[in-house]
Amino acid sequence: MLDFLKKEGIHPHLIQELEQFRSAFGTEPEVANRIRTPRYYYYGTKIWEEALSALLCGEHLLLTGPKATGKNVLAENLAAAFGRPLFNISLSINTDAASLIGSDTWKNGEVTFREGPVSQSARFGGFGVLDEINMAKNEALAVLHEALDFRGSIDVPGYDRIDLHPACRFIATMNYGYAGTRELNEALTSRFVVIDMPPISEDYLAKLLRSEFPDLSPAWNTQFCRIFQELQKKCESAEISPKALDLRGLLASVRLIKKGLSPLEALRLGIGNKIFDPYERKLVDDLFLIRVSEKQSAAELFQ
Ligand SMILES: Nc1ncnc2c1ncn2[C@@H]1O[C@H](COP(=O)(O)OP(=O)(O)O)[C@@H](O)[C@H]1O
Ligand SMILES: [Mg+2]
Repeated sequence: MLDFLKKEGIHPHLIQELEQFRSAFGTEPEVANRIRTPRYYYYGTKIWEEALSALLCGEHLLLTGPKATGKNVLAENLAAAFGRPLFNISLSINTDAASLIGSDTWKNGEVTFREGPVSQSARFGGFGVLDEINMAKNEALAVLHEALDFRGSIDVPGYDRIDLHPACRFIATMNYGYAGTRELNEALTSRFVVIDMPPISEDYLAKLLRSEFPDLSPAWNTQFCRIFQELQKKCESAEISPKALDLRGLLASVRLIKKGLSPLEALRLGIGNKIFDPYERKLVDDLFLIRVSEKQSAAELFQ
């Protein structure tokens, strides 16, 4: 992970501080399997430097932005970069305080307290990823207020207080532009440093495609980057809805082409068919047809 950061040109000073952080804190064996090498790397030097600086200062992070801007990938990469166990905490309208902090359960005929992921992150010095934090109700999130304060702690009603381990950080993610998403309340937002995640740039997308599909020909790598860039432009000018700007869908399309599906069909399955408005869908399809003919065969795209 550190080699990757060096290669990406992250400021040496930050790498050095990261190394100090990593050697300063050990990990309990019971959560050691939560320190993982990420499946994907996040590309974007500026965002990396902002996130590392904030976390090194002891801040907690809120990553906001449209879908598929790599919020979860970055959060996981950060846990790996700091060498800390990762706790994924998916939030929804049904999340209550007990599912975050923990609750009483029966074990061997007696009542014992079973810690939730927020308490575990706090105690083990983990990185707690509060995924889609704005989906949760304010009542449930209130337990986080104290945890996120300077020298935070968590009050477990009827039990102890858990002081936040000095290596513990929370990274919240929040999509906007989705139906059903709410604004985060001010008291909570003010406890985070907020990074607004940009859509992946053309250069980084080319890099991502190269690392995911090493045998994709350079010419087709460029074609896919252009397609994504054009979708982005159409989104910005509000000609199409952001549904079509789906990097996950683009990656899925390329995977389907690798399996042998025709490129045009794969782009429709991965991206085009997600748009239900016929006019918008036509616009997107035309955009594909500029670069990919009906007859284009899958094999020609790979070397
Ligand atoms: N800057 C980036 N660097 C690397 N991968 C990215 C980047 N932006 C998006 N992705 C890719 O987009 C997909 C979705 O990422 P994810 O983290 O789940 O997005 P989000 O949580 O913002 O919706 C992943 O396949 C990821 O690799
Ligand atoms: Mg996400």
